[in-house]
Amino acid sequence: MRLGIAQTCPVFGERDRNLNEALDLLSREVADLWVLPEFFASGYQFARVEEVRDLAEPVPGGPTVLALASFCRDRGCSVVAGLPEAADGVMYNSAVLVGPRGLTSVYRKIHLFGDEKRWFAPGNLPFSVEDVGAARIGVMICFDHFFPEAARTLALLGADILAHPANLVIPGLAQRTMTVRALENGVFAATANRVGEESRAEKALHYTGQSQIVAPDGTALVQLSPDHVEVGVAEVDPAAARDKRLTSRNDKLGDRRPKFYRA
Ligand code: ACM
Repeated sequence: MRLGIAQTCPVFGERDRNLNEALDLLSREVADLWVLPEFFASGYQFARVEEVRDLAEPVPGGPTVLALASFCRDRGCSVVAGLPEAADGVMYNSAVLVGPRGLTSVYRKIHLFGDEKRWFAPGNLPFSVEDVGAARIGVMICFDHFFPEAARTLALLGADILAHPANLVIPGLAQRTMTVRALENGVFAATANRVGEESRAEKALHYTGQSQIVAPDGTALVQLSPDHVEVGVAEVDPAAARDKRLTSRNDKLGDRRPKFYRA
C-alpha cells in the first residue's frame, strides 16, 4: 500500500484555509493512507480558552471530519488527522481516522504536552487498532512518542502502522524516539509534523518539520525537510510488520517477560 505523510503550515484559527491547503497538498499525490499533523486545521498555540471552545469540533459532525470524509470518498483513501474535539462540554486533543465511508475511529491524546494541559482533558479512551485495506492502523499523537507504552500497546493490539500526527517543537527528539518505536515493535511509523512558527503566547513555538516514515527495521523510508510544506509517500507492505523475528531465536514481542515488568 502507499503510505503518505503531509507536512503543513497552518495559520492559527483559519480553519477553512488550512483545510483547503492540506487537501490541495494531498491531491498532488496518490496514497491509500495519509497522515496529517496534529491540529492541522485549527493551529496549535491557543492563548485563551474561548479560542479552544471556538475551534473544538464535535466528532463526527464537525467541519473537519466532513471535509476529510468527502476527500476520502472522492479519492478512495483514508486519512488520520489531528483536531481539537468537543464532546459533552469537554475538549480533547484528538485524532480521527476517516475513510471513504466516513469516520472510522477517534483517539484522544493520552499524554498531554505543556500548555495543552491548560486547555484539554487527557484522553479517556483506550488505544485501538483499525483495519485500512490489508493494514492495521494504530493512532498516537505527538508527545505520546515519549512513552514507549503507547507504541508498545498499539503493537500488542496488532498494529502494522503507527499513524502519528504531531506538532513537534524539540528538534530531533521524536525523530529518534519514533525510529526506536518502529524498530523495537517491528512496525511502520509515520510521523506527520508541521513547519513554521506561532507566537501567540509568551513563548514562541518553532515547529521542526522533518516528518518521517520509518520501516520495521528502523530504516527511514521518507524524511522531509525542517521547513517546507511538502508530502512524502512510501510503498509499504503491512505484512513486513507481522514478522517479529530479530534472530532465529528472538522475537521482538514474543520474548517479552511481562511478569518482570512490574515496578
Ligand atoms: C506535542 O505533543 N505537541 C509536542
